[in-house]
Amino acid sequence: MRNERIEKTEQFLKGLFNDSEYFKKDPYAMNYRLEHSYRVAHIGKEIAEAEGMDAERMIVASLLHDVAYYLDFSKIEGGYREHGRKGAAIARPFLYELGYSEKEVEEVCYGIAIHVDDESDFEGDRTAFALTVGDADNIDRFDVFRIYEALENEHYWKMSIDERNDFLNRKLENLERYKKMNCATKTAERMWQEKLDFQTEFFTRLKHQNANSTWWSVHDK
Ligand SMILES: [Fe+2]
Ligand SMILES: [Fe+2]
Repeated sequence: MRNERIEKTEQFLKGLFNDSEYFKKDPYAMNYRLEHSYRVAHIGKEIAEAEGMDAERMIVASLLHDVAYYLDFSKIEGGYREHGRKGAAIARPFLYELGYSEKEVEEVCYGIAIHVDDESDFEGDRTAFALTVGDADNIDRFDVFRIYEALENEHYWKMSIDERNDFLNRKLENLERYKKMNCATKTAERMWQEKLDFQTEFFTRLKHQNANSTWWSVHDK
């Protein structure tokens, strides 16, 4: 979907990220954030279209949900937990510039504000649209890239068999907890559960493979 508001939003986001002193020190972090924002926009669009919401505005909201990441949160009270509320404040004047009504702007800002820890520093309604911003974010965060990232960041390949087993048990326990989390729409719920099921399948298989990776596992059977 190419349209003027979406293109302006992408330029606004990229402009802030490219000029960010914080991202200049860590260009990989900028690439990750930008790529994640595009993926969230794809997911947001899919949910909005299936649920009869304004898809254009959902793409705009999704692109902007992590806009505050261009700031250096080590210097901000509350750290990264504030990035939703800070993001809403950064997005608001830009959204008015795009010509959205007050109601439309506030709904987007509320969705951005609450997407991290479900708390906002201004009044708003928990509409399906506002909650979908966080749903789309979570759906991307639990897709396959996260599997690679978890194994890479935790240096899975360097772990002992026992350490791997503990790591995989923790992963599987966390996934069980996340399965109880509800989404705002049926479409998001279906996508969310599908991501969790895939991760559960992957980590379960890895656990079986790990358990068979020793001589004594052969010997005992
Ligand atoms: Fe976020
Ligand atoms: Fe995000």
